[in-house]
Amino acid sequence: DETQKLRFALLDWYDHNRRELPWRRTSSNNDGCKEEEEEEEEVDSRAYAVWVSEVMLQQTRVQTVIDYYNRWMEKWPTIHDLAQASLEEVNEMWAGLGYYRRARFLLEGAKRIVAEGGRIPNTVSTLRKIPGIGDYTAGAIASIAFQEAVPVVDGNVVRVTARLKAVSANPKDSATIKRFWKLAAQLVDPLRPGDFNQALMELGATVCTPLNPSCSSCPASKFCNVLAISKDDSSVLVTDY
Ligand code: ADE
Repeated sequence: DETQKLRFALLDWYDHNRRELPWRRTSSNNDGCKEEEEEEEEVDSRAYAVWVSEVMLQQTRVQTVIDYYNRWMEKWPTIHDLAQASLEEVNEMWAGLGYYRRARFLLEGAKRIVAEGGRIPNTVSTLRKIPGIGDYTAGAIASIAFQEAVPVVDGNVVRVTARLKAVSANPKDSATIKRFWKLAAQLVDPLRPGDFNQALMELGATVCTPLNPSCSSCPASKFCNVLAISKDDSSVLVTDY
C-alpha cells in the first residue's frame, strides 16, 4: 500500500544518502535488522552510543555534536566509565553545548543503570523509567539500538510528516505533538524502525528544510500531499507547513 511504498522510498534514500557519523555503526555490525546472535557487549555499546548522541543532538546541530561526542566517548567509552564520573567532569565536558541538565541526566541515568546491573533497558516503557529519559530519547534508543518498532518525533519529523499529510498545525502546541507521535507511529517501518526514524530526521535536516526545501530531489515527493496541493493551488506553499 501507500505507506509501505513511502517506507521503502525513504529507506532506500537513507541507504544511499545517510551521513557517516561516529555513532552510526557500519552495516557489518548493525544493518538495522534484528540479529539473533549478537554479543551482549556489542548491544550495550551501541545503546550507549545512541543514548549519548541523541541527548547531545536534542538542542544541537550534527556538525557541532561530532567533536563533543568523540571527546565524550574517549573519556567514558562505556556506561560503566560514565557512572564513575563526577558532575563537575561531566559539566566540563559539556561546556559550550548548553542545557546542562542534559549532561546531569546522562550521568544520573548511567549511575542508575549501572546500580541496577548495567544493562541498558531495551524498550520504550522500561527506558522511560530512567531519570532524564523522555519520550524522544526512549524512542530513539529503543528503535535505533534495539529495533523496537516505535516512533521518534522531533521538530524535523513534525515538519516532514505535516507536509506529507498536509496537516497544518502549530508545532509548539502540545496537542499537535501528541498528534504527530500517533502519525509517526503509523508510519514507522516495522522491520527497520531505527533506520526509518533516522531517515525522517535526516530528510528534515537536509532536504525537507523549513525554507527552500529541495522537493525536486525528495524521495517522498510522490507521497507528499502539500506538494500535490501546491501544484494545483499556488496560494498553498510547502513552507506554510
Ligand atoms: N537528529 C537527531 N538524531 C538524529 C539522528 N539519529 N540522525 C539524524 N539526525 C538526527
